[in-house]
Amino acid sequence: MRITLVSGSNRANAASTNLLKYMQGLLEPQNITVTLIDLAQLPLPLFTPDNWDFHPNAKHMLDTFAESDGIVLATPEYHGSLSGVLKNALDYVNPTLIAGKPVLSVSSAGGPLGVSSLTHLQTIVRNLHGINCSEWISVGFGTQAFDADGVLADEEVRTRVSDVLESFVQLTRTLGTTNLAAFK
Ligand SMILES: Cc1cc2nc3c(=O)[nH]c(=O)nc-3n(C[C@H](O)[C@H](O)[C@H](O)COP(=O)(O)O)c2cc1C
Repeated sequence: MRITLVSGSNRANAASTNLLKYMQGLLEPQNITVTLIDLAQLPLPLFTPDNWDFHPNAKHMLDTFAESDGIVLATPEYHGSLSGVLKNALDYVNPTLIAGKPVLSVSSAGGPLGVSSLTHLQTIVRNLHGINCSEWISVGFGTQAFDADGVLADEEVRTRVSDVLESFVQLTRTLGTTNLAAFK
């Protein structure tokens, strides 16, 4: 099974990226191949429909999506929505790359919760014909949520993350046995 994690924050030591690295640490021991696309390390030019000869970074992201069985999208909550960096990345995506695949949305907020960005992300996933995971994760209070080693400081949040991830992996396994072509 291949799962791609996309961090939509271009901030150094971003909570969204730390959350995905934490998830990567939970997924890899389950014999799952994980690719982390950190949009701070893989910057994408501003998408324009006038240019379909994409930058190598965009091609890399799209090729990774094509090979994925499931995708996790992480965003900081920006003004009650997702980051421009992640929205720009998703504008490159053709629905055929996502159709029928499970997508888990996660967010990091400065306040206790960032739910608006999650609903907006799920709307985009729906429009790309992806299958929204019935669960989502919002980590509050930004980088304070992590200790110096990048581990989630609060045990309840750690439990929530591992429970949601388990349900996402189960969904990915279930959908992996169906014919994805039916969704395209
Ligand atoms: C432009 C901007 C807008 C923000 N808007 C919100 C917001 O609407 N609600 C909120 O809780 N936090 C808001 N924040 C705080 C970020 O969501 C918070 O710092 C988050 O942890 C950043 O995630 P990151 O570390 O993954 O970049 C905003 C931050 C910035 C820079």
